[in-house]
Amino acid sequence: MKRRIFSGARPTGRQHLGNYLGALQNWVSLQDEYDCIYCSVDVHALTTLEDTSSLQTDIYEMMLDWLAAGLDPQKSILFVQSHVPEVMQLYTLLGMVTPLGWLLRMPTFKEKVKIQPYNVNYGLVGYPVLMTADIVIYKAEVVPVGEDQLPHLEMARAIARRFNNLFGDTFPEPQAKLTSFPMVLGLDGKEKMSKQLGNDIEIALSPEETIERVMTAVTDPARQYRNDPGHPEICNIYRLQGYFNPSQLDALAVQCRSAEIGCVDCKTLLAQKINSALEPFRERRAALAAKPQYVKDVLADGANRAQVIARETLTEVKQKMGLI
Ligand code: AMP
Ligand code: TRP
Repeated sequence: MKRRIFSGARPTGRQHLGNYLGALQNWVSLQDEYDCIYCSVDVHALTTLEDTSSLQTDIYEMMLDWLAAGLDPQKSILFVQSHVPEVMQLYTLLGMVTPLGWLLRMPTFKEKVKIQPYNVNYGLVGYPVLMTADIVIYKAEVVPVGEDQLPHLEMARAIARRFNNLFGDTFPEPQAKLTSFPMVLGLDGKEKMSKQLGNDIEIALSPEETIERVMTAVTDPARQYRNDPGHPEICNIYRLQGYFNPSQLDALAVQCRSAEIGCVDCKTLLAQKINSALEPFRERRAALAAKPQYVKDVLADGANRAQVIARETLTEVKQKMGLI
């Protein structure tokens, strides 16, 4: 039997290069080797959303990106978290074996408190417990994510271990699987690329919009003037060239250090490379957008298939915890 993978992403609408390079691409390539389940975690999204009016559109837009990028419903289960409500029951039960101190110490929780001090809700504290429930309800062994999720995976392993110790061996301890691009910086060149921070480049932008966005990127601050020599090793644009333009990477480093090439030229080249790499994706996306019922059908079928597995695990957990 193939080993099982689970991963999820908050329905933030159109995906950005961070999602794409840090996770989505990996998800696509793992489909043949593993039994894969990919989830749009709408309940997790509620921990940061106050206005939920665009949630359905955001789920739909994200699914278009996933399908166009190559997630194949014939190979993988694709579904929306709240459509399999069993996970919320497991979340509650796992909450009983998770020390509060672990959750309050989470760096990701502290970060959110900083970003949204006006909305420190209880769901934010429980976020890693729900994430653990997502993974272990499918007894997934491998979780492909970006680097920012490593503390959550550490917590998932700790909760699974604790449950197993208290109630007998039930869950595998899930292992993270990173891509070769586990952390994509945003256009500010400082923070991780993120929709909430507004420093992102969406993969579904038009070629013209992509060029515009790339042009706003912060590069090497030491290059004030065209003739200033650059430091490619600290430049975010250079890092992205590594992915989209690997054959010219060494030459670009030399040209940047000697100021033979300016940042505008370098950005134009990168935007062109991004556009040609994403052209087939964008064509597939437009074709999918023309049949919105297809996305709904995929998600309905995915939820049915996921629910069969989730119910089985939940019953086992309830038995082990003495509830039935
Ligand atoms: P999110 O949109 O934050 O729910 O993230 C969905 C997936 O994309 C997760 O596996 C993240 O680790 C990954 N991801 C998000 N932002 C980045 C980034 N800037 N660099 C690398 N991976 C990312
Ligand atoms: N916390 C993840 C993120 O922000 C999303 C997520 C929720 C997830 N449940 C998961 C990722 C389970 C992997 C496995 O990206």
